Amino acid sequence: MSKFFITTAIDYPNGSPHIGHAYEKVLADIIARYRRLCGDEVFFLTGVDQHGQKMQQTADNEGVNVATLANRNTRKFIALWEKLGVHYNGWAATTDDLHKNCVQKILSALHDQGQLYKKAYKGFYSVRQEQYLTEKDRGEDGQFGEEWGEVVELEEENWYFRLSEHADWLKTAVSEGSLGIIPEFRRAEVLNAIERASETDLCISRPKDRLHWGIELPFDAGFVTYVWFDALINYISFAGYRSNGTASLPDFETLWPANAHVIGKDILVPAHAIYWPCMLRAMGFTDKQMPTLLVHGWWNIRRKSSEGESGGPEEKMSKSLGNVVDPAQLCERFGTDAVRYYLVRDIVTGKDSAFDLERLISLFNSELANDLGNLLNRSINMTKRFAGGLLPPITYDDDACKAVRSSLDNTTRDYRSAMDCYDLPGALKSINAHVVHCNQFIEKNPPFELRKEEAQRDRVLAILYHLCESCLHLSILLSPFLPEASDKIRRQLRAESRFKGHLENLAWGLLGPGHMTGKAKPVFPRIVVDEEKG
Ligand code: ME8
Ligand code: MG
Repeated sequence: MSKFFITTAIDYPNGSPHIGHAYEKVLADIIARYRRLCGDEVFFLTGVDQHGQKMQQTADNEGVNVATLANRNTRKFIALWEKLGVHYNGWAATTDDLHKNCVQKILSALHDQGQLYKKAYKGFYSVRQEQYLTEKDRGEDGQFGEEWGEVVELEEENWYFRLSEHADWLKTAVSEGSLGIIPEFRRAEVLNAIERASETDLCISRPKDRLHWGIELPFDAGFVTYVWFDALINYISFAGYRSNGTASLPDFETLWPANAHVIGKDILVPAHAIYWPCMLRAMGFTDKQMPTLLVHGWWNIRRKSSEGESGGPEEKMSKSLGNVVDPAQLCERFGTDAVRYYLVRDIVTGKDSAFDLERLISLFNSELANDLGNLLNRSINMTKRFAGGLLPPITYDDDACKAVRSSLDNTTRDYRSAMDCYDLPGALKSINAHVVHCNQFIEKNPPFELRKEEAQRDRVLAILYHLCESCLHLSILLSPFLPEASDKIRRQLRAESRFKGHLENLAWGLLGPGHMTGKAKPVFPRIVVDEEKG
């Protein structure tokens, strides 16, 4: 059994979770469930990034204690993962003592090795991005652009990490692939950025008089740790690094390196592709111990009234449908299945997409309610009506039946190769291909007509068998995406215990002779939008 370690970015809980947060966690959850289906022992880590200036600023603006704010908002994230069926094995909250201890141990070790030094610096600082700016960050007009938010001039002493010492190594690690980057086109982007981002050292502290909300430097109590330096370490602190065998944590040695750090494109450079590998190297990690970054794209919100797409996930949707971009509200309104399905069906992993509520509804209604839902209903209902729910030994075969089996083989093969390279929409399309094949099989070999001739009895039973067996296979392939719906399908087929193994052993004949199916009940009721109510 191989281990599979998957993590996501840890979210800033300085507000409510948005659709981008939801997408990333659902994406990682589906990959984790798929790897389990393949037989891997999976550890899925996610959590919240509770420190930093942004959190302190939001708390100050709202006039609340920053710890109170962090806890209150963290609960919203946890509640959403519960609602969305995101099942993680480890929860990384950076205010957790075990994490703080780990960060401090790492800082002390780096300090002892001479990887950290203190110096005075005067320069411009972006409050929004929580980083110092250089002359190169100025736009053509000589000003710092809007993307930096509020920019202030600061003069202060701070601690620095000798990032630039690792620049040459990093170039090789990125160009030769020790640092995994998926999709591949992002590697060029990183290579272009390395030159610039790794020529200066990284400021890893903030003076407490400016920022108190962070992890204190163990060797200089006047400072807290820079939020990114703190946050990146979650990937190892909660995986058991330097934990001296703490019982609640996994065994780091066998778990590391991460098979996938699932992150958005905005935090690839410099945090994950530059700071993080250099930090790991300074800590003594070898080239073989570098993680793989799985970089996803951006969900944009389409503006109804104007052309084009807007940048932020906060934008309102449409008047008639109301403001339903809030993922928790989306789940309330359309159900978890519709939301999980849409979030990974309509965006190519790595690319951007525009959130569109009408697409969410139409994809659910066409591919789930119509195609799959209909197939399930008809298959189980006809088996009940024409065979009393009983599937006897099958004695009939013909080209149409053979074509069903080979369509399922193709679907399973295409699904697996798509999932293995994180092409989730591709996997869903391959599932749909077999669904469509089966529905056409019913049209061309209609049991409700054939059953009228006694001579066609064996053929009808074979058709029903092919349909029910197909539904069971489809429910297994669909299970990482829609775990609850998949369970419902298996219950209706009364086949919950028919497949407990790994995908590799999935083969025709799960519903043995004499299998009794259950009662059909719509698994994917059509979404009907009441425009009046909106
Ligand atoms: O960046 N579409 O936190 P965060 C898709 N705390 N993904 C999106 C998105 C969108 N519209 N908006 C955000 C942070 N994301 C840090 C991470 S990791 C050690 C620390 C993704 O709450 C974003 O790319 O701003 C990131 O991967 C995640 O949501 C959290 O973003
Ligand atoms: Mg962000």
